[in-house]
Amino acid sequence: MRRFAWALMVSAGAVVALAAAGPANDDCLTCHGEPSAARADSRSVEVKPDAFAASAHGGLGCVDCHADLAGQTDWPHAETLARVSCAGCHLDEVAKYESGMHARARHDRPGSLAATCVDCHGTHDIRPSTDRASRTHHLNMAATCGRCHGNADVIRREKIQSGDVLADYRDSIHGRAVAKSGLMVAPSCNDCHGGHDVSRLTSLTSPVNRTHVAATCGTCHDGITAQYSASIHGQRVAGGSTSAPTCVDCHSAHRIARTDTARFGLGVVDECGSCHLRQARTYRDTFHGKVTTLGFQQVAKCADCHSAHSIQGKSHAASTIAPANLVSTCGRCHTGAGVNFVRYDPHPDPSDYGRDPVLWWVNRFYTYLIGGMFVFFGVHSVAWAARATADRRRRRARDGDMSTGASL
Ligand code: HEC
Ligand code: HEC
Ligand code: HEC
Ligand code: HEC
Ligand code: HEC
Ligand code: HEC
Ligand code: HEC
Ligand code: HEC
Ligand code: HEC
Ligand code: HEC
Ligand code: HEC
Repeated sequence: MRRFAWALMVSAGAVVALAAAGPANDDCLTCHGEPSAARADSRSVEVKPDAFAASAHGGLGCVDCHADLAGQTDWPHAETLARVSCAGCHLDEVAKYESGMHARARHDRPGSLAATCVDCHGTHDIRPSTDRASRTHHLNMAATCGRCHGNADVIRREKIQSGDVLADYRDSIHGRAVAKSGLMVAPSCNDCHGGHDVSRLTSLTSPVNRTHVAATCGTCHDGITAQYSASIHGQRVAGGSTSAPTCVDCHSAHRIARTDTARFGLGVVDECGSCHLRQARTYRDTFHGKVTTLGFQQVAKCADCHSAHSIQGKSHAASTIAPANLVSTCGRCHTGAGVNFVRYDPHPDPSDYGRDPVLWWVNRFYTYLIGGMFVFFGVHSVAWAARATADRRRRRARDGDMSTGASL
């Protein structure tokens, strides 16, 4: 009786052990380890044993993921198998991914090409993102997102974006810092957009929505974000204004360039001017504006007098253009500038009487003077011409008389 019970336990144990083990990886690899392994339509079903062994999942059984083959004992197996679910083991990442727009696009639209786990991570060669060979390693991230966002066919078919985000990014100071200098601290796509919970720009939860851009850039450019947030622009954006600028209005999102180049410096004047039309027009009438328009960097541009990130109106005590601070603002370039020097108006507007009555009168005076002179000299010239013609006729008549007289 005891021997029978023992034998039962052993055989039950063996059955349990067999079921838990299922087919071994080597069983699968006898077919799938061959480079020639292919479907009937000749698409490859090869799995490279070395790449799999070196992956984060190298310690797993094939059937831990391909769970529908766990009980398989005879070969060949069914042609079509269930898709692998990562959810059983990576619940947190799956939950986060499901909250993002790539997942929603897949659910909403059959045939969508939006990214899935496998698009960003791979299948049998998945590595932790700390591994240099991983698709999600910082230095490889742009290429991973760029498989779609830098692919003209996908962009056109899915209407994802207006231009080639990947090419723009690669040419930016950030892209070059990552690709050429190998800088781990310069941002790649996922630093600004997230990896799993990528959102649409219009979503209020998106890190690149207008209301969050300053905070997102501020994860690295902390000092600048602090200045900007206290400025009138930052305050207005925080208050919900859509007409005040945030970082990307002046710097762009994917084409960010060095700021000490002539191209950026001159471009930013146009950018300020696209909102502050009157000040841009009056600035261009000044010596500073005219010389800047010719392409010279050294004369004052908007940000030289107003600062770039701490901009305030003139009535704010900390403003660079508050009357009490003007001597030091102009004095940065005009050494020795005094109270009289800074009376010079950097935005002269001759059509605005309230701003400067003297300039208005001078402008009027010259307008009338020049107009008057045109009228005077116009009348003068006409009268002069009439008189000259009359004189000539008279002279010709007189000369005619004289010559007849001489021939007589
Ligand atoms: C006897 C050879 C053989 C063995 C052993 C074998 N397979 Fe396959 N497997 C194939 C062939 C052939 C195909 C291609 C089927 C087709 O599309 O015609 C295939 C296809 C697959 C597919 C793709 C299915 C699909 O829906 O596209 C998966 C996944 C797969 N095998 C996993 C495994 C796993 C895991 C094991 C081990 C448990 C295994 N196979 C063992 C021959 C084999
Ligand atoms: C970490 C999970 C995981 C493990 C472990 C795993 N696979 Fe896969 N396998 C996938 C995913 C994901 C796919 C892509 C298709 C899908 O989404 O179902 C896939 C696809 C396949 C395919 C179809 C061909 C292809 O490349 O699309 C074959 C064949 C296959 N696996 C065989 C194997 C074999 C053999 C092993 C063990 C050596 C194995 N898999 C281990 C996740 C896994
Ligand atoms: C059967 C459970 C299981 C499944 C299914 C599974 N994984 Fe894993 N995964 C693991 C284990 C275990 C590790 C190793 C964790 C470790 O080393 O700390 C891992 C590691 C990873 C890593 C590296 C993370 C790290 O911290 O090292 C990534 C990325 C990953 N898996 C992605 C996926 C994706 C994508 C899928 C679906 C295609 C998937 N996994 C399916 C169990 C699984
Ligand atoms: C759009 C690209 C993208 C998609 C889709 C994606 N991931 Fe990730 N995943 C990343 C990036 C980037 C990281 C690493 C940095 C981070 O956490 O943002 C990461 C990290 C991970 C990690 C942590 C381990 C590590 O390597 O740091 C796991 C596990 C993981 N992903 C699993 C999944 C699973 C499961 C899915 C599908 C539900 C998925 N991922 C979908 C981009 C993606
Ligand atoms: C420095 C932060 C940053 C980096 C790095 C970055 N982005 Fe963006 N991205 C943004 C911001 C901010 C916006 C929103 C721009 C706007 O409001 O006009 C945006 C917009 C987008 C859009 C929508 C664009 C459109 O025209 O509708 C896509 C798609 C996108 N990014 C993908 C990427 C990809 C792919 C990468 C990597 C190659 C990347 N981004 C790198 C900050 C970044
Ligand atoms: C496999 C292709 C693929 C990959 C890889 C991919 N995406 Fe996408 N992405 C898409 C598609 C397709 C859409 C448009 C979905 C829709 O609107 O239906 C999209 C949309 C987006 C949007 C939303 C743009 C908007 O309209 O607001 C952003 C942002 C974005 N992706 C960023 C990323 C980032 C960052 C990565 C890498 C971490 C990435 N994507 C990887 C295919 C991909
Ligand atoms: C109104 C336009 C504008 C906005 C908004 C703006 N910047 Fe700037 N930024 C500039 C200008 C102009 C410069 C050049 C500074 C100079 O010449 O003194 C600059 C310079 C920079 C520099 C280089 C450092 C320096 O001062 O030379 C960084 C980094 C920078 N900005 C980041 C940001 C970030 C992050 C934000 C959002 C929090 C932001 N900027 C918002 C116009 C702007
Ligand atoms: C992950 C960190 C990180 C994030 C996020 C980030 N940056 Fe940068 N940024 C850097 C680094 C590092 C450099 C310096 C690269 C170099 O000099 O090669 C840089 C350089 C710059 C420069 C050029 C500065 C100069 O010297 O002229 C500007 C402008 C800039 N970033 C603006 C932004 C804006 C705007 C955002 C948000 C849309 C942003 N950055 C987000 C890390 C970041
Ligand atoms: C996207 C549009 C936009 C851009 C670009 C822009 N601004 Fe502004 N600016 C605003 C708005 C909106 C206000 C807030 C006006 C208000 O509420 O009084 C403002 C306020 C100001 C003020 C304070 C004016 C006041 O009446 O108190 C100054 C000075 C200023 N901006 C200078 C600049 C400079 C210099 C630049 C370029 C470096 C610039 N702005 C770029 C929209 C813009
Ligand atoms: C040489 C220095 C200087 C330059 C260059 C300059 N400004 Fe000004 N700006 C001032 C001063 C000083 C004031 C305050 C007196 C006034 O209202 O004219 C002012 C006033 C302003 C105001 C109104 C502020 C308020 O509180 O009412 C705006 C807006 C403005 N400037 C925008 C610009 C823009 C945009 C540019 C470039 C196209 C620019 N400025 C170039 C010095 C400058
Ligand atoms: C970024 C440097 C810079 C700043 C700031 C600056 N200027 Fe200038 N400014 C110049 C340069 C360079 C010239 C041309 C060289 C010269 O003649 O001194 C010039 C020329 C002038 C001129 C005409 C030429 C002359 O010297 O008679 C006046 C007037 C003037 N600036 C007034 C101001 C006032 C007022 C401020 C402050 C509100 C100011 N500037 C701020 C650089 C600057």
